[in-house]
Amino acid sequence: MTAEDVIAHDVVTGPKWDRNYAGPDYIFGTEPNEFLAAQANRFAPRGRILVPGDGEGRNGVWLSGQGFDVVSVEASAVGVEKARALAASRGVQPNIQHANLDAWIWPVNAFDGVASIFVHFVPSARRALHRRMLNALKPGGILVLEAFTPKHVEKRAAGGRGGPPPEMLYTEAMLRDDFTGATFELLEEADVVLDEGSRHIGRGSVVRLVLRRAQ
Ligand SMILES: C[S@@+](CC[C@H](N)C(=O)[O-])C[C@H]1O[C@@H](n2cnc3c(N)ncnc32)[C@H](O)[C@@H]1O
Repeated sequence: MTAEDVIAHDVVTGPKWDRNYAGPDYIFGTEPNEFLAAQANRFAPRGRILVPGDGEGRNGVWLSGQGFDVVSVEASAVGVEKARALAASRGVQPNIQHANLDAWIWPVNAFDGVASIFVHFVPSARRALHRRMLNALKPGGILVLEAFTPKHVEKRAAGGRGGPPPEMLYTEAMLRDDFTGATFELLEEADVVLDEGSRHIGRGSVVRLVLRRAQ
Protein backbone atom coordinates (compact mmCIF):
# COMPACT_ATOMS: atom_id res chain seq x y z
CA MET A 1 0.00 0.00 0.00
CA THR A 2 1.55 3.33 -1.04
CA ALA A 3 0.96 6.69 0.64
CA GLU A 4 -1.15 7.69 -2.39
CA ASP A 5 -3.35 4.59 -1.96
CA VAL A 6 -3.89 5.47 1.69
CA ILE A 7 -4.89 9.06 0.87
CA ALA A 8 -7.22 7.99 -1.99
CA HIS A 9 -8.89 5.36 0.18
CA ASP A 10 -9.22 7.75 3.11
CA VAL A 11 -10.81 10.52 1.06
CA VAL A 12 -13.41 8.19 -0.50
CA THR A 13 -14.50 5.82 2.28
CA GLY A 14 -15.81 8.10 5.05
CA PRO A 15 -17.84 10.54 2.89
CA LYS A 16 -19.27 7.73 0.73
CA TRP A 17 -20.58 5.91 3.79
CA ASP A 18 -21.73 9.17 5.42
CA ARG A 19 -24.07 9.54 2.44
CA ASN A 20 -25.23 5.92 2.69
CA TYR A 21 -25.98 6.29 6.41
CA ALA A 22 -27.58 9.77 6.16
CA GLY A 23 -31.20 8.63 6.65
CA PRO A 24 -32.81 7.78 9.97
CA ASP A 25 -32.92 4.02 9.30
CA TYR A 26 -30.14 1.54 10.04
CA ILE A 27 -29.48 0.36 6.49
CA PHE A 28 -28.12 -3.08 7.54
CA GLY A 29 -30.61 -3.29 10.41
CA THR A 30 -29.91 -3.32 14.13
CA GLU A 31 -29.59 -7.07 14.56
CA PRO A 32 -26.19 -8.79 14.20
CA ASN A 33 -25.00 -10.47 11.04
CA GLU A 34 -26.26 -14.07 11.12
CA PHE A 35 -22.88 -15.71 10.42
CA LEU A 36 -21.16 -13.67 13.14
CA ALA A 37 -23.92 -14.49 15.64
CA ALA A 38 -23.53 -18.21 14.85
CA GLN A 39 -19.74 -18.13 15.23
CA ALA A 40 -19.32 -15.77 18.19
CA ASN A 41 -19.20 -18.68 20.65
CA ARG A 42 -15.71 -19.39 19.25
CA PHE A 43 -14.40 -16.15 20.81
CA ALA A 44 -12.97 -16.41 24.33
CA PRO A 45 -15.85 -15.62 26.75
CA ARG A 46 -15.80 -11.93 27.72
CA GLY A 47 -12.80 -11.52 25.40
CA ARG A 48 -11.62 -8.33 23.70
CA ILE A 49 -13.04 -8.11 20.18
CA LEU A 50 -12.07 -5.72 17.36
CA VAL A 51 -14.85 -4.84 14.90
CA PRO A 52 -13.26 -3.06 11.90
CA GLY A 53 -15.68 -1.18 9.61
CA ASP A 54 -18.59 -1.57 12.07
CA GLY A 55 -20.82 0.85 10.14
CA GLU A 56 -23.91 1.79 12.14
CA GLY A 57 -22.81 -0.55 14.91
CA ARG A 58 -25.17 -3.53 14.77
CA ASN A 59 -22.37 -6.10 15.25
CA GLY A 60 -20.26 -4.26 17.83
CA VAL A 61 -23.33 -3.39 19.89
CA TRP A 62 -24.59 -6.98 19.80
CA LEU A 63 -21.16 -8.36 20.80
CA SER A 64 -21.09 -5.88 23.72
CA GLY A 65 -24.47 -7.19 24.81
CA GLN A 66 -23.02 -10.71 24.80
CA GLY A 67 -20.44 -9.60 27.37
CA PHE A 68 -17.47 -9.00 25.06
CA ASP A 69 -15.15 -6.01 25.47
CA VAL A 70 -15.58 -4.38 22.04
CA VAL A 71 -13.47 -1.90 20.09
CA SER A 72 -15.15 -0.73 16.84
CA VAL A 73 -13.37 1.34 14.20
CA GLU A 74 -15.39 3.08 11.50
CA ALA A 75 -14.52 5.69 8.84
CA SER A 76 -17.98 7.26 8.62
CA ALA A 77 -18.73 9.92 11.24
CA VAL A 78 -22.45 9.40 10.61
CA GLY A 79 -22.07 5.64 11.14
CA VAL A 80 -20.19 6.26 14.41
CA GLU A 81 -22.90 8.62 15.66
CA LYS A 82 -25.64 6.07 14.88
CA ALA A 83 -23.61 3.25 16.43
CA ARG A 84 -23.20 5.27 19.64
CA ALA A 85 -26.97 5.94 19.68
CA LEU A 86 -27.69 2.23 19.20
CA ALA A 87 -25.27 1.33 22.01
CA ALA A 88 -26.92 3.85 24.34
CA SER A 89 -30.38 2.48 23.50
CA ARG A 90 -29.19 -1.02 24.43
CA GLY A 91 -27.35 0.10 27.58
CA VAL A 92 -23.93 -1.15 26.41
CA GLN A 93 -20.61 0.66 26.10
CA PRO A 94 -18.44 -0.50 23.21
CA ASN A 95 -15.40 1.68 22.51
CA ILE A 96 -16.47 3.12 19.13
CA GLN A 97 -13.65 4.95 17.35
CA HIS A 98 -14.00 7.22 14.32
CA ALA A 99 -10.92 6.44 12.20
CA ASN A 100 -9.86 5.15 8.83
CA LEU A 101 -8.28 1.72 9.15
CA ASP A 102 -5.65 2.74 6.58
CA ALA A 103 -4.25 5.27 9.01
CA TRP A 104 -5.29 3.70 12.35
CA ILE A 105 -2.47 2.55 14.60
CA TRP A 106 -3.29 -1.16 14.71
CA PRO A 107 -2.51 -2.81 18.05
CA VAL A 108 -0.54 -6.05 17.78
CA ASN A 109 -1.25 -9.21 19.85
CA ALA A 110 -4.11 -7.33 21.48
CA PHE A 111 -7.46 -8.97 20.68
CA ASP A 112 -9.11 -12.32 21.39
CA GLY A 113 -11.22 -11.88 18.28
CA VAL A 114 -11.76 -9.85 15.12
CA ALA A 115 -15.17 -9.61 13.40
CA SER A 116 -14.91 -8.29 9.83
CA ILE A 117 -18.37 -8.29 8.30
CA PHE A 118 -18.81 -7.06 4.71
CA VAL A 119 -15.74 -4.82 4.98
CA HIS A 120 -14.37 -4.63 1.43
CA PHE A 121 -11.08 -2.84 0.86
CA VAL A 122 -9.62 -1.61 -2.44
CA PRO A 123 -7.33 -4.26 -3.97
CA SER A 124 -4.15 -2.25 -3.31
CA ALA A 125 -4.92 -2.03 0.42
CA ARG A 126 -6.68 -5.35 1.07
CA ARG A 127 -3.82 -7.72 1.84
CA ALA A 128 -1.96 -5.28 4.09
CA LEU A 129 -5.12 -4.56 6.09
CA HIS A 130 -5.94 -8.26 6.41
CA ARG A 131 -2.39 -8.88 7.71
CA ARG A 132 -3.03 -6.12 10.29
CA MET A 133 -6.24 -7.85 11.37
CA LEU A 134 -4.34 -11.11 11.78
CA ASN A 135 -1.50 -9.48 13.72
CA ALA A 136 -4.00 -7.63 15.94
CA LEU A 137 -5.07 -11.03 17.28
CA LYS A 138 -3.38 -12.56 20.28
CA PRO A 139 -1.83 -15.96 19.51
CA GLY A 140 -4.75 -18.41 19.39
CA GLY A 141 -7.24 -15.58 18.71
CA ILE A 142 -10.14 -16.04 16.30
CA LEU A 143 -11.13 -14.01 13.23
CA VAL A 144 -14.63 -14.23 11.74
CA LEU A 145 -15.12 -12.70 8.28
CA GLU A 146 -17.96 -12.60 5.80
CA ALA A 147 -17.77 -10.83 2.43
CA PHE A 148 -19.30 -10.89 -1.04
CA THR A 149 -17.74 -12.90 -3.88
CA PRO A 150 -17.66 -12.15 -7.64
CA LYS A 151 -20.70 -14.45 -8.06
CA HIS A 152 -22.69 -11.82 -6.18
CA VAL A 153 -22.67 -9.64 -9.33
CA GLU A 154 -25.08 -12.15 -10.98
CA LYS A 155 -27.31 -12.14 -7.90
CA ARG A 156 -27.44 -8.35 -7.98
CA ALA A 157 -28.37 -8.41 -11.68
CA ALA A 158 -31.22 -10.81 -10.76
CA GLY A 159 -32.63 -8.47 -8.12
CA GLY A 160 -30.37 -9.08 -5.09
CA ARG A 161 -29.09 -5.97 -3.30
CA GLY A 162 -25.89 -4.73 -1.71
CA GLY A 163 -22.21 -5.37 -2.22
CA PRO A 164 -19.22 -3.32 -3.37
CA PRO A 165 -17.92 -2.59 -6.89
CA PRO A 166 -16.71 -5.76 -8.68
CA GLU A 167 -13.00 -5.03 -8.13
CA MET A 168 -13.55 -5.07 -4.35
CA LEU A 169 -15.17 -8.51 -4.16
CA TYR A 170 -13.30 -11.33 -2.35
CA THR A 171 -12.68 -14.98 -3.16
CA GLU A 172 -11.75 -17.95 -1.02
CA ALA A 173 -8.33 -18.08 -2.74
CA MET A 174 -7.65 -14.40 -1.98
CA LEU A 175 -8.45 -14.86 1.70
CA ARG A 176 -6.35 -18.03 1.92
CA ASP A 177 -3.41 -16.03 0.60
CA ASP A 178 -4.08 -12.86 2.66
CA PHE A 179 -4.21 -14.82 5.93
CA THR A 180 -1.47 -17.32 5.17
CA GLY A 181 0.12 -18.68 8.36
CA ALA A 182 -3.20 -18.91 10.22
CA THR A 183 -5.20 -22.09 10.82
CA PHE A 184 -8.34 -22.06 8.68
CA GLU A 185 -11.17 -23.56 10.72
CA LEU A 186 -13.79 -22.73 8.08
CA LEU A 187 -13.37 -21.21 4.62
CA GLU A 188 -16.18 -21.60 2.12
CA GLU A 189 -18.12 -19.79 -0.56
CA ALA A 190 -21.89 -20.06 -0.18
CA ASP A 191 -25.13 -18.88 -1.74
CA VAL A 192 -27.30 -17.34 0.94
CA VAL A 193 -30.50 -15.37 1.36
CA LEU A 194 -29.82 -12.07 3.06
CA ASP A 195 -32.26 -10.22 5.26
CA GLU A 196 -30.22 -7.35 6.72
CA GLY A 197 -32.02 -4.01 6.78
CA SER A 198 -32.93 -2.40 3.46
CA ARG A 199 -29.50 -2.82 1.90
CA HIS A 200 -28.67 -6.55 2.06
CA ILE A 201 -31.81 -8.22 0.81
CA GLY A 202 -32.42 -11.34 -1.25
CA ARG A 203 -30.04 -13.86 -2.79
CA GLY A 204 -26.35 -13.27 -2.28
CA SER A 205 -23.01 -15.02 -2.80
CA VAL A 206 -20.58 -14.78 0.08
CA VAL A 207 -17.31 -16.15 1.35
CA ARG A 208 -17.18 -17.10 5.02
CA LEU A 209 -14.02 -17.50 7.05
CA VAL A 210 -13.16 -18.51 10.59
CA LEU A 211 -9.46 -18.71 11.39
CA ARG A 212 -7.21 -19.03 14.40
CA ARG A 213 -3.92 -17.17 14.71
CA ALA A 214 -1.01 -19.52 15.33
CA GLN A 215 -0.08 -19.99 19.02
C1 LIG B 1 -20.84 -2.71 3.85
S1 LIG B 1 -20.56 -1.71 5.25
C2 LIG B 1 -20.75 -2.92 6.55
C3 LIG B 1 -20.92 -2.31 7.90
C4 LIG B 1 -20.95 -3.30 9.04
N1 LIG B 1 -19.75 -4.11 9.09
C5 LIG B 1 -22.17 -4.18 8.96
O1 LIG B 1 -22.03 -5.36 8.58
O2 LIG B 1 -23.26 -3.70 9.29
C6 LIG B 1 -18.79 -1.49 5.21
C7 LIG B 1 -18.29 -0.55 6.28
O3 LIG B 1 -16.87 -0.61 6.33
C8 LIG B 1 -16.38 0.70 6.53
N2 LIG B 1 -15.01 0.78 6.01
C9 LIG B 1 -14.57 0.39 4.80
N3 LIG B 1 -13.26 0.69 4.66
C10 LIG B 1 -12.88 1.27 5.82
C11 LIG B 1 -11.67 1.81 6.29
N4 LIG B 1 -10.57 1.81 5.53
N5 LIG B 1 -11.62 2.33 7.54
C12 LIG B 1 -12.74 2.33 8.33
N6 LIG B 1 -13.93 1.86 7.93
C13 LIG B 1 -14.00 1.34 6.71
C14 LIG B 1 -17.33 1.58 5.75
O4 LIG B 1 -17.26 2.93 6.16
C15 LIG B 1 -18.66 0.91 6.03
O5 LIG B 1 -19.27 1.44 7.18
